[in-house]
Amino acid sequence: MDQQGNTVSTKVTRITTRTIQEMKDAGERIACLTAYDFLVARMLDDAGIDIILVGDSLSNVFQGNATTLPVTLDEMIYHTKIVSNVTRRAMVVTDLPFMSYQVTVEEAFRNAGRIMKETNALGVKVEGGRRVAKVVEKVSGEGIPIIGHIGLMPQSILKYGGYRPRGTSEQEAAELIDDAIALEEAGAFAVVIEKIPATLAKRITDLLHIPTIGIGAGAHCSGQILVTHDMLGLFEDFRPRFVRRYAALTEEMERAFRAYISDVKSGTFPNDSESY
Ligand code: KIV
Repeated sequence: MDQQGNTVSTKVTRITTRTIQEMKDAGERIACLTAYDFLVARMLDDAGIDIILVGDSLSNVFQGNATTLPVTLDEMIYHTKIVSNVTRRAMVVTDLPFMSYQVTVEEAFRNAGRIMKETNALGVKVEGGRRVAKVVEKVSGEGIPIIGHIGLMPQSILKYGGYRPRGTSEQEAAELIDDAIALEEAGAFAVVIEKIPATLAKRITDLLHIPTIGIGAGAHCSGQILVTHDMLGLFEDFRPRFVRRYAALTEEMERAFRAYISDVKSGTFPNDSESY
């Protein structure tokens, strides 16, 4: 309503794969963060984020698991539905979790289709390059927007035995370039590249037509993503150097919890104005 009581249109234009490609072509950086719940999703959307990823990082920062492996397709659907329902502008993309797309292309497509049907997400993401090219081709070929994810791939962390940067040898760098090209050729609309040297990320970004979204991959990617709980200083179990802290919410929340407990114990909460 305006001041005269007339209804004012608040139509918001949704970000789509096309907007994302136009941003890359125009040299406008794409800003992405993760969300798993309604409050954070709404705040991100209102703040103007371009892509909200319902990452399988929810396994770590929401469920408290050591890796992303345990989170299930049903759990991803539950969180993605919540995030999609509250988001008006951002493009909501959701991770296909471990074991939901690795067994066969048909199963991957069925699971991608299920997540799209049940959540109103606008796209899915899978980890892998050439290894998942057939999945990307099928999913994208059937009309589902799909993002690839190369470099450090948290679903394969047990195989690599740690979080060291990827693409640091010539052979690994060449393989990552081949992976990125395979994803583009298979129909991915963007590629997340995680924890690789900035020079290699620039080479990949320059080679590809589709956007690259970097995380720990330097400033030359078409966009950037962080796990929201990391950049807010809420999840402190790992502190990789690529995470810039924009807030210190753990400290702030702990201070509030201690103050509340102390006020309850001392009888200063509630006071008269907080009572009926
Ligand atoms: O699961 C996740 O949050 C991710 C991003 C960090 C890229 O994959």
